[in-house]
Amino acid sequence: MVSVNSDWLIEAKSLTKNYGPHIALDNVDIQLPHGSIGLLGPNGAGKSTLIKTLLGLIQITSGEGKVLGHDIRTEGHAIRSKIGYMAEYDTLNPDLNAVDQVRYAGELLGMAPPVANQRTHEVMEYVGLRDQRYRKIGTFSTGMQQSAKLACAIIHDPELLIVDEPSNGLDQEHRGFMLDTLFNIVSDGGRSILMSSHLMDDVQMVCDRVIMIHKGRVVVHRRIEDLARQIDREIEISVWGGASKMEQQLKDAGLTVRRLGRVMRILREDDSTVDLILECAAKTSVQIRQMEEYEPSLEDLFLLIMDKLGYGTRSASELLNSTSDSRVIGDGSLGGASI
Ligand SMILES: Nc1ncnc2c1ncn2[C@@H]1O[C@H](COP(=O)(O)OP(=O)(O)OP(=O)(O)O)[C@@H](O)[C@H]1O
Ligand SMILES: [Mg+2]
Repeated sequence: MVSVNSDWLIEAKSLTKNYGPHIALDNVDIQLPHGSIGLLGPNGAGKSTLIKTLLGLIQITSGEGKVLGHDIRTEGHAIRSKIGYMAEYDTLNPDLNAVDQVRYAGELLGMAPPVANQRTHEVMEYVGLRDQRYRKIGTFSTGMQQSAKLACAIIHDPELLIVDEPSNGLDQEHRGFMLDTLFNIVSDGGRSILMSSHLMDDVQMVCDRVIMIHKGRVVVHRRIEDLARQIDREIEISVWGGASKMEQQLKDAGLTVRRLGRVMRILREDDSTVDLILECAAKTSVQIRQMEEYEPSLEDLFLLIMDKLGYGTRSASELLNSTSDSRVIGDGSLGGASI
């Protein structure tokens, strides 16, 4: 690869993967620093394909890529020995007990049996399976199976952990535990993580950076902190009577308003916006029943981006978000291709 910088965790240049005529990854260019990265995108976007190409598990069609400085086309083995991979599909043997399964994973990665044995007990404790470690995997709940998969992925203390949809099929409690454990691997262990999900919340709990892919292309690559700053703040009011009059008055006052029935969201320009809203209410004799600053979450941003990419949003509140012309995310180009 031209101008290789081995300090990058992951780099890809014009990375393309076709399955027959279907383009699953389309000229992906990325340079990811060490840390925690969320890989977001709707079903079929290409998340798992990207992960598998980075692992050297599937052959790429064209382009180049490196993981921890290793070429994904020729050094798949070296890559896999330095990273842990938790696949989205079931990779466990139901007839093995958990300890044997995890130790076996370590031995497959080249660990000496006594070392693998010792590490197995450590990681079982770490993923919350200490008391169940001698049970057969076949008797495990989905949450326990996900934990066992994670134990297999971290037994060799990898520099980079790649997890594909780690919270899939988990109830709230197990999901929370899984995400906490992943977060700790990064924050306490100083390891890097690439985590795919279609849930923004999951990514937000674990990662400090996000890449979003859509139809095989990277459409967003940003630090989550920077993305959050790009979301407009709004003030939400609920009015009693004269909503149309109020809407007009607000617009005449130069404010940007979005309305759904008696609820309006007004773009917060600065500290004076609240006073301006109250003035408008006084002028129109409209009663404001409720007023609150609306702090959009990254989930909102995710929905907004998905909406712009042609994915529908459903609930009334999402509809309110998605019908906006007033909401501009930064300059409209969020890195990668514009949305
Ligand atoms: N082995 C394969 N042969 C043919 N097409 C494939 C194969 N694997 C994936 N695809 C197609 O490539 C595209 C990307 O699939 P991929 O599994 O990478 O998506 P994803 O983002 O992981 O989706 P999900 O959220 O459903 O896991 C999809 O259109 C999928 O149907
Ligand atoms: Mg997938």
